[in-house]
Amino acid sequence: MLGIAVDDNWFILNKTIPTLHLKLNFRSERHPTMNKLPKIPWYEITPEKVYLNRRQLMVGVGAAVSVAALAACGMEAPPAAPAAPAAEGAAAAPAATPDTRAPAASATTDELGDSLNSFEQITNYNNFYEFSTDKEDVARLAKNFPVSPWTVTVGGLVDKPATYDMDDIRKMFTTEERIYRLRCVEAWSMVIPWQGFPLGKLLAAVGPKSEAKYVRFQTLHNPDVMPGQSSAWYSWPYTEGLRLDEAMNDLAIIATGLYGKDLLPQSGAPLRLVTPWKYGFKSVKSIVSIELVAEQPTSLWMDAAPNEYGFYANVNPDVDHPRWSQASERRIGELSRRPTLPFNGYAEQVAHLYDGMDLRENF
Ligand code: MTE
Repeated sequence: MLGIAVDDNWFILNKTIPTLHLKLNFRSERHPTMNKLPKIPWYEITPEKVYLNRRQLMVGVGAAVSVAALAACGMEAPPAAPAAPAAEGAAAAPAATPDTRAPAASATTDELGDSLNSFEQITNYNNFYEFSTDKEDVARLAKNFPVSPWTVTVGGLVDKPATYDMDDIRKMFTTEERIYRLRCVEAWSMVIPWQGFPLGKLLAAVGPKSEAKYVRFQTLHNPDVMPGQSSAWYSWPYTEGLRLDEAMNDLAIIATGLYGKDLLPQSGAPLRLVTPWKYGFKSVKSIVSIELVAEQPTSLWMDAAPNEYGFYANVNPDVDHPRWSQASERRIGELSRRPTLPFNGYAEQVAHLYDGMDLRENF
């Protein structure tokens, strides 16, 4: 079956499918919920041409392989067939109805000269498993998610624990614009003009105690308004963590808006973490709890697939995901792939945080 893939599919198929297949078998022996496999449409991790070729190749291939090949960042059982290539086109192509609202960003490119993604792209292609595992359905399903009133509790090993509402947050912190690249572990990326404030300022306001070494973030847990949380396949609420020095780095922000508008629900309203040198799954959305802790937190993804999603999650083209290469990525809106940069292009600002660490081991 795999032998008929003779072009550039060969490598990926031989590398990917056997691994997934083994993984399926392995998991099924250990756990009845073997469908808890990470979900990623393979059009996210391969060039479109390869994807199209594979769709042809996959005709007649067993369902188990289809399921395996779809699996990735999420661990939900994927739909029986991959999303049509049209879905990919829809995300990448200009919106059918142009967004007439003038984007409020101070520049049209990031510091590397790459264009900002459009508001439409950024808000219609989302990972937010609390609503859907289908990136193009999140916006619709999250539309009525109530984001006001909202409070966030900042506590744990701090001198002045506090609960802030959004008015407090707005008064306490001056909003800054940060144009950042977002690189998803699934190997797609965007350039986004965020509004927000440095996470370090929020942490300084509560006074971390000397025992505090890490920061744990959690999303709201309310399956009534986040239906995806009814799924038993993940350990909700969505949890992420940073080392305290990472959290204090100036690049780490709490975003409250993008393109000059308050965040929409699909983007993690009313406030989310943004750490641009790390894979996007660190950017926990709709945060209600920030806790300073002594031990390294376990994230939802570490719990779900510890061999695939590590604590550090620094963008690293030299360390592949167990099932696909991280050497390149597809910028949403572009057809060809581009090389992935170490630390997503922010090495100068953050590489020193990892001096002396083995980044293969600490992936
Ligand atoms: N936060 C929560 N609560 N739930 C999620 O499913 N997905 C993560 C991250 N934050 C996720 C989340 C992943 S995998 C990515 S790539 C980014 O959000 C995507 O952010 P975006 O939808 O704004 O592009």
